[in-house]
Amino acid sequence: MEWTVVVGRYSPPGEPQPKGERGAPFAAPYEKAPPKTYQTFKVDLPEHAMVLDALIAVREYQDESLAVRCACRSAICGSCAMWVNGHARLVCTSKLREHTVDGKVTVEAPPSMPIVRDLVCDMTPFWKKNYSVTPWLENKQPIPQGEEYRVPNAAMEELIQEVSCISCGACLMDCESFAVNADFMGPAALAKAYRYTADPRDAQTTDRLDTYSKPSGVWDCTHCYECVQQCPKGVAPLEQILKLRKMAVDAGFTHNAGTRHADAFAESVRDSGRLNELTLMPKSLGLFNIPAQLQSLPAAFNLLRAGKLPPLIHHAIPHVERIKNIFKKIGGRFK
Ligand code: SF4
Ligand code: SF4
Ligand code: FES
Repeated sequence: MEWTVVVGRYSPPGEPQPKGERGAPFAAPYEKAPPKTYQTFKVDLPEHAMVLDALIAVREYQDESLAVRCACRSAICGSCAMWVNGHARLVCTSKLREHTVDGKVTVEAPPSMPIVRDLVCDMTPFWKKNYSVTPWLENKQPIPQGEEYRVPNAAMEELIQEVSCISCGACLMDCESFAVNADFMGPAALAKAYRYTADPRDAQTTDRLDTYSKPSGVWDCTHCYECVQQCPKGVAPLEQILKLRKMAVDAGFTHNAGTRHADAFAESVRDSGRLNELTLMPKSLGLFNIPAQLQSLPAAFNLLRAGKLPPLIHHAIPHVERIKNIFKKIGGRFK
């Protein structure tokens, strides 16, 4: 069966450049990524073949200069994550028949990461974020003598999801927060952070929560769900981030913009039945944080100029007491 694969090629400056159709510059937030050159290949492979099979066929029989990183070919080593039709995928488990759209599948290095060559991106940003998480447990005292630590099964089941991570970086490649803030710890590192923070044997829980509550930590996630959709192993990093947030708030780490933002959001809905965007920003920054309030003025003027400033007075929501009742029943801190 014949398949059409469009491959984004890139060679470092000063080296012979690939011939083909020059792609347009990437749109924001990836405008700093170098444009690629796109080459089209036809490969003959069975119906059940994977995208990686097609790339290897190209490299073996048509163009041996094609750079592609892979090893296990079975979703274990995590080395073959790249963009397939504009989203991060492990190409060794992506079927050609499922990703062929309008007769072709387009494969390229993700523009969110530095590029080395062709389909190989530089994973340094991903590893640096992983290294920022202390990947071992500090013993709780006293250490049990003559026996092993006893941990309830339920507590360990909570952690199993993250342990499936193969460090492929697909979640970070498509993370919208990372795209605009290179310092954001990112989904995989934060999922790993949850794995150690929530382990009942660890004595460093408070220190860890303090670290992850700081800027570029758990509160900088924008809930875009890309990491949940792209993770090939079901780690669902966003779910782990939300659990870390709850742990941090319960432990008293509430003096930060993220918690204030979440509180302002919940209080507005509880009290009026709607989100009052006009008060959301000032409350998130801290009402008495004058320097931050002044810094936000240009953004407010831009909204005003664009006619996007929310109304000063909202229409009353009918039966708002029903929403208050919901909060009374399940509102946690906002009862
Ligand atoms: S949900 Fe959060 S961590 Fe996950 S990709 Fe979106 S911004 Fe990144
Ligand atoms: S969380 Fe999922 S997508 Fe992210 S590195 Fe781990 S396995 Fe890959
Ligand atoms: S080649 Fe190892 S995960 Fe794809």
